[in-house]
Amino acid sequence: MCYVTVHNMSFIEFLFILLILYYFVYVLLWIILDCNVALWYKSRFGNSISTMRGQVVWITGASSGIGRALAISLARHGVRLVLSARRLEQLEQVQTECLAAARGLLAQKDVLILQMDMLQLDKHQAHLYTVLNHFERLDVLVNNAGRSQRANWVDIDIQVDRDLFELDVFAVVHLSRLVVRYFLEQNGGRGHIAATSSIAGFSPVPFSATYCAAKHALNAYFTSLKLEQRKLDVTIFAPGPIATDFLMEAFTGNKGEKVGDSTANQKRLTAERCGELFAVAIANKMDLTWCGLVMPMFTEPIDL
Ligand SMILES: NC(=O)c1ccc[n+]([C@@H]2O[C@H](COP(=O)([O-])OP(=O)(O)OC[C@H]3O[C@@H](n4cnc5c(N)ncnc54)[C@H](OP(=O)(O)O)[C@@H]3O)[C@@H](O)[C@H]2O)c1
Repeated sequence: MCYVTVHNMSFIEFLFILLILYYFVYVLLWIILDCNVALWYKSRFGNSISTMRGQVVWITGASSGIGRALAISLARHGVRLVLSARRLEQLEQVQTECLAAARGLLAQKDVLILQMDMLQLDKHQAHLYTVLNHFERLDVLVNNAGRSQRANWVDIDIQVDRDLFELDVFAVVHLSRLVVRYFLEQNGGRGHIAATSSIAGFSPVPFSATYCAAKHALNAYFTSLKLEQRKLDVTIFAPGPIATDFLMEAFTGNKGEKVGDSTANQKRLTAERCGELFAVAIANKMDLTWCGLVMPMFTEPIDL
């Protein structure tokens, strides 16, 4: 009976059913998995993070959250690190955690602490020299430092728009340009730039207008870079809601104000899992990936 039905089906009908099935399975996988299908596949069957052993990865915003988790995931596989952010004590703590995770694969000199305020653009070049003097190479820059936002669109002070873009976009682009110049002029045109974007950088959410716009801008900057410099690797990593303390520091609509809230009660992907998936995306030189729990995104308020 079934045979007769398939036999009588036109080729177009058959293709149509295949297409529906394909999208059905794809959406199902989105709901079941905690990242996009390609990233999940690479985490199982792609390059192991240990293929990066000995490489030097510079992570901005490494003192907490996703940056900290990424650093520990890379350290576990013997990747040498530059940890940068403003809070020295937290960076020292992350350095200790990295060395413990490395279980002898890394010595203290392999995990460099670089105290740095991303907003001081005039010091970026000196920071890059510090990294190169220490390691004599740089393989990957991970632009992770950033702050989110909670605000009504209509109430946002224009100075908040400017301040958020200064940190989440212009500081990132400025540092990246210096590193890309190093890759092009001193590294044979090879190198890898990664950026922590956000799902909000692809699909805007309410009450974070400046942040959504900033992450859209970041995506555009790095996609353009990839189109111009084919030999460079560029990874745009877009997390959904992740369990970090990022709302504590998030902008509001008022100049100088912070949200000062915790996301502890929300159902979110852990920072550790996010950091591990980010490391997989970098090890596999993936262009664009995302991670997050899909179901809570439909049932909970979204802070990205
Ligand atoms: N958590 C989420 O749900 C989520 C979702 C999507 C995307 N993201 C993105 O993930 C990235 C990391 O956020 P997170 O969630 O891990 O939050 P987090 O724990 O607050 O981390 C933010 C990091 O940025 C650093 N930073 C902030 N301002 C800086 C400055 N002026 N100079 C240098 N470093 C600075 C902080 O270090 P110091 O304070 O020590 O300087 C900290 O290490 C951000 O780009 C964020 O937009 C987060």
